[in-house]
Amino acid sequence: MFDELQPLPPDPILALTPAYRADPNPDKIDLGAGVYKDEHGKTPVMAAVKQAERTLLAKQDSKAYVGPAGATGFNEALAELAFGADLAGALGSRRTSLQTPGGCGGLRLAAEFLARANAGATVWVSDPSWPNHVPLLCAAGLGIAHYPYYDFDSHSLRFDAMIDSLGKAASGDVVLLHGCCHNPCGADLDREQWLALRELALANGFTVLIDMAYQGLGDGIERDAAGVRLLAEALPELLLVSSCSKNFGLYRERTGALSVICRSATVAKAAASQLAAIARASYSMPPDHGAAVVQTILENSDLRASWEAELAAMRERINGLRGALAERLAAAGTGRDFSFIEREKGMFSFLGVSPEQAEALVNQYGIYLVKSGRINVAGVNEANIGYLTRSLAVLLRTSP
Ligand SMILES: Cc1ncc(COP(=O)(O)O)c(C=O)c1O
Repeated sequence: MFDELQPLPPDPILALTPAYRADPNPDKIDLGAGVYKDEHGKTPVMAAVKQAERTLLAKQDSKAYVGPAGATGFNEALAELAFGADLAGALGSRRTSLQTPGGCGGLRLAAEFLARANAGATVWVSDPSWPNHVPLLCAAGLGIAHYPYYDFDSHSLRFDAMIDSLGKAASGDVVLLHGCCHNPCGADLDREQWLALRELALANGFTVLIDMAYQGLGDGIERDAAGVRLLAEALPELLLVSSCSKNFGLYRERTGALSVICRSATVAKAAASQLAAIARASYSMPPDHGAAVVQTILENSDLRASWEAELAAMRERINGLRGALAERLAAAGTGRDFSFIEREKGMFSFLGVSPEQAEALVNQYGIYLVKSGRINVAGVNEANIGYLTRSLAVLLRTSP
């Protein structure tokens, strides 16, 4: 029965890492996959995570099942991190939260849940968006529409076009927004823009799904959640997917959560049982370890302070690199304005190179990036920034 199956092309982002590892070029730079890297190009285990793991190892006395919704303490701690303690309290039983296997698990669960609520739902996805959004949503049978988001020439938001386009989204439709640090473009909504979207959602009745994979890596833990909170305090319904992969560095532990806000506590109770049933039929229960680590950190004031300080250092490193890149690219005589890199947030920005130029960067210079020209800013460091900016300047002068 398997004989007719055809191999699929490799995932363009995941394929970059093995290609980078196999490249003998001593100057090679990895700006591909979306993992945070320190000044030495390492993706470290955070100090608070190591400490929490030691605590867990000493005190954990059972590996019995946790249940489809995961650990209640983790779910509540993560909901408070996203919504803030006051709003999480005010939402009360209108909110239900569920531990998920990473952000991807949360998005897939959200998609299955939306399909149960409205089998014909269309999800509006930003153009551009993270390449795994559409596969995750389509796997649950949802329809996809795109709204304009980013102008590749001016490196700015196409907000008027976005609002125009989302004017067509109606009750029963879903609008997917990035909570902060938009992947792939790094251009985020400001307060007024979040408020305008909130008005549109209230007027048109569409449901908002927010994907928050980078809380704390843009402007800070609280400021990065400002848009989520503006919407959650006013909209009758909302879905939020939180990932702990980047801000806790727990990538392989598959740690995340899905929160659903409903019109009433009665609806939220039904939603919780539907979500638990979907989880049970998919993977039964989420993995425990990463969530237990996060809960341990968030519930212990010393560990939390250590985590917040390390996260702040990661954020400051990224923001510093953004400034340095913009400055060095201007000085390298690229003939282009790269100041947008400093304005954008989080780990990603588009360099503004064509697919052919991106390919040349990989093949001729050993600078690994996605064909779209998206770079992971955290892959830049003191040792490679000179080679990177010189190479780009040569490339742009010789093949503009
Ligand atoms: C925008 C966005 N959403 C969700 C995720 C999912 O992260 P994970 O499943 O590793 O928690 C990522 C990871 O790169 C992402 O960039």
